[in-house]
Amino acid sequence: MSPCCHAHHPVAAARDRARRRRLPAGRYLGILASQPPSDVQEHPSMTQHFETRQIHAGAAPDPTTNAVVTPIYQTTSFVFDSAQHAADLFSLAQPGNIYTRITNPTTAVLEARLASLEGGSGALALASGQSAETFAVLNIAGAGDHIVSSTSIYGGTYNLFKYTLAKLGIETTFIEDQNDPEAWRAAARPNTKLFFAETIGNPAVNILDIEPVAAVAHDVGVPLVVDNTVATPYLIRPIEHGADIVVHSATKYLGGHGAVVGGVIVDGGTFPWSQHVDRFPGLTEPDPSYDGLSYTTALGDANAFHLKARVQLLRDIGPSIAPASAWQILQGVETLSLRVERHVQNAKRVAEWLESNERVASVNYAGLPSSPWHELANHYAPLGAGAILSFELKGGVDAGRRLIESVALFSHLVNIGDVRSLISHPASTTHSQLTPEQLLSGGITPGLVRLSIGLEHVDDIIGDLDQAFAKVFA
Ligand SMILES: Cc1ncc(COP(=O)(O)O)c(C=O)c1O
Repeated sequence: MSPCCHAHHPVAAARDRARRRRLPAGRYLGILASQPPSDVQEHPSMTQHFETRQIHAGAAPDPTTNAVVTPIYQTTSFVFDSAQHAADLFSLAQPGNIYTRITNPTTAVLEARLASLEGGSGALALASGQSAETFAVLNIAGAGDHIVSSTSIYGGTYNLFKYTLAKLGIETTFIEDQNDPEAWRAAARPNTKLFFAETIGNPAVNILDIEPVAAVAHDVGVPLVVDNTVATPYLIRPIEHGADIVVHSATKYLGGHGAVVGGVIVDGGTFPWSQHVDRFPGLTEPDPSYDGLSYTTALGDANAFHLKARVQLLRDIGPSIAPASAWQILQGVETLSLRVERHVQNAKRVAEWLESNERVASVNYAGLPSSPWHELANHYAPLGAGAILSFELKGGVDAGRRLIESVALFSHLVNIGDVRSLISHPASTTHSQLTPEQLLSGGITPGLVRLSIGLEHVDDIIGDLDQAFAKVFA
């Protein structure tokens, strides 16, 4: 059963919307209904504040037990009421869950919640941030196609684009100055399918100028896909600034606890795919693997992208998130604003301390007035520039390595966005597969140390760095 059966039952909401949009009678309601409310502008929860929606959007008391917390529907499959019911679910004539690879009621609540927080039309939760990055591209690009990406992105995504997608026949042009809109325009080709960047870059902590880049993307006729992992929707909501698709590693701040891996794609519902039929035939032309369905014709531009990713890519490739992981991320999302607020406060204090320290050669943190991205941070992230910062110690690589071995409170590992403060050396870990030139073009110098500032007391965080500095420079 889906966690529903109340006034805003997703099935009823989807039926209403489908009726209003004159979808083929009853035909595709199943895949709409297994999703969160697909037009959040019409959803009552969108009138509530972020802090309220992070707790309530998409959820309702369990219809069987009245449990207030969304249950973990730990099941692979859902029993059919009858042979006719089974046939109706498979032909999509009737809504309902069939198999957890494609939909699960626990996961559906997480998807509805994140669609609401980002202001999108729907969402698809996946097994990891990397599967979300991969699906965001494969959903509209295939062999012979091309994408444009900033160089200033997470090392794993860089490798995905540069090597793995290349093996599948998708070519990526990387551009170094992501805030030069004309660089994006110049890189675009007739076979370009999307532009990609991170709203706050990891680990250079640079801020994407979303609005002009989105404007060029739309001029060219492609969507702007952004990774919003470092910012979270509490600090930046890219869809409000023109981005079309938002990707997250939910492993980071959305979960917040460092306990589970997960990812999500949020569809802004904004891109007019059906006005670009030649560029996006996979969305607009009949899909022979789905009974001749044209996603845009049947579901509308607002829902075509996220539902195609679910019913085609997830069906065929299968990186679904475990319901228990979706549930744990959901618990984290309920306190997102509070945690991020404190993460930001702590990070700002640490950045200021580092900047005033004579042992530090440079600090990357857009929350500092000295940062070249400070103005953009004020524009796009007025509540704070996140809690990832990086810095270069005087003494370069050796000093950086000694620092990592001298901290006690910080954990030396490669994750970010945990309640714990974390430290890493990108050039020898997360970004180690990149060449020296690739590293520099992503803003990663050999001695750069990355911090993910946690929720411990800020005096203890600074105290730990202070004692480590004393050891390094003894
Ligand atoms: C900005 C960013 N995007 C995507 C990912 C990949 O996410 P995951 O580790 O959940 O696959 C990461 C992981 O570090 C990341 O930092």
